Amino acid sequence: MKKFVCMMLTAALCLSLFGGVALASGTVDIGIVLPTKDEPRWLQDQARFESVIADTPYTVEVLFSQGSSAVERTNIETLISKGIKVLIICAHDADAAGLSVELAKEAGITVISYDRLITNTEAVDYYVTFDSVSVGEAMGKYLADNVKEKAQSLYLYAGAASDNNAFLFFEGAWNILQPLIADGTFVIRNSSEAVALQAEPKLTREQLSKIIGQVTTEWDFNVAKSKAEAHLTAATKDEKGLCFVLAPNDGTARSIGDVFAADADVNGYYITGQDAEIASVQYIIDGKQSMTVFKDTRTLAQDAMDMAIALIKGEEAKTDVTYNNGAKEVPSKQTAVTVVTKDNVKDVLIDSGYYASSQFTGL
Ligand code: GAL
Repeated sequence: MKKFVCMMLTAALCLSLFGGVALASGTVDIGIVLPTKDEPRWLQDQARFESVIADTPYTVEVLFSQGSSAVERTNIETLISKGIKVLIICAHDADAAGLSVELAKEAGITVISYDRLITNTEAVDYYVTFDSVSVGEAMGKYLADNVKEKAQSLYLYAGAASDNNAFLFFEGAWNILQPLIADGTFVIRNSSEAVALQAEPKLTREQLSKIIGQVTTEWDFNVAKSKAEAHLTAATKDEKGLCFVLAPNDGTARSIGDVFAADADVNGYYITGQDAEIASVQYIIDGKQSMTVFKDTRTLAQDAMDMAIALIKGEEAKTDVTYNNGAKEVPSKQTAVTVVTKDNVKDVLIDSGYYASSQFTGL
């Protein structure tokens, strides 16, 4: 009996948190689900969506999954119950999201994968994304452009293995770095799996998984920090000196960079990033992060909303490329990215109106 009362209470609590919406069926046209509020990248996307939404006659609701596939599923169910016609979703976990978007498909909803491709399901209709392989290539190229001598120490880090983009970013970086690893310009210091594969110009998904499994940051600052600390503790003085660091995004770049900066045997370091997060833009101005790959979320949010509106109107979605998600070729709309360093930070991020100069010091 106690158990039953408990279950009823939990059910009532769930209803009050998420379920009230069931009454409001048919009230939302486009549902947007983003992975978490805890990574600044997704707050940028939210802000951009909000400004695009303000200009449409359609009703739109944005929900966050807070790094949980279970919350993501609840969010999708909530939006289905509100009668959405199109779902724009950036998944927390590429594979786990498959089952949830299948629910949306069964309800006759068009599914647009946003930024991160949902894998191994037929239930993805379209994909709106940045060119993620080129993000990794831009990072690799930055490190390659700055290396002046042979036998330079290279430290590799990756994103979360549950995010398909982590594979694309690493693949892109490997395209540029591998020839320089093979010819002895770079020496990998922190991944036995990458060392074992260093003669391979192209890595299979399985091979990438092995490396990513070893050097993943899980997109988490703390994981990134403790891995970097462990790597530098294990490295000899000779394996430090001037370091070249592939960091997969801005949050992890700041935490890994801080660890390298604090090590007395590190004389200097080049470190990559992506997303042009405000804190990293300040790090770039201050010389603590070398570069970031700017992904203009204004374009991505606009493209996703334009696509959703076209589909609601019964028009064709504009796509320019396809991505294979393991189950099908997904028609996709792809956007280019821009490398930002101290030299062009003002032009690209301030003069374009993306950020205000008052958000930074020392510009
Ligand atoms: C990726 C995304 C990146 C980065 C990362 C961490 O999927 O494309 O821009 O923010 O997630 O959340």
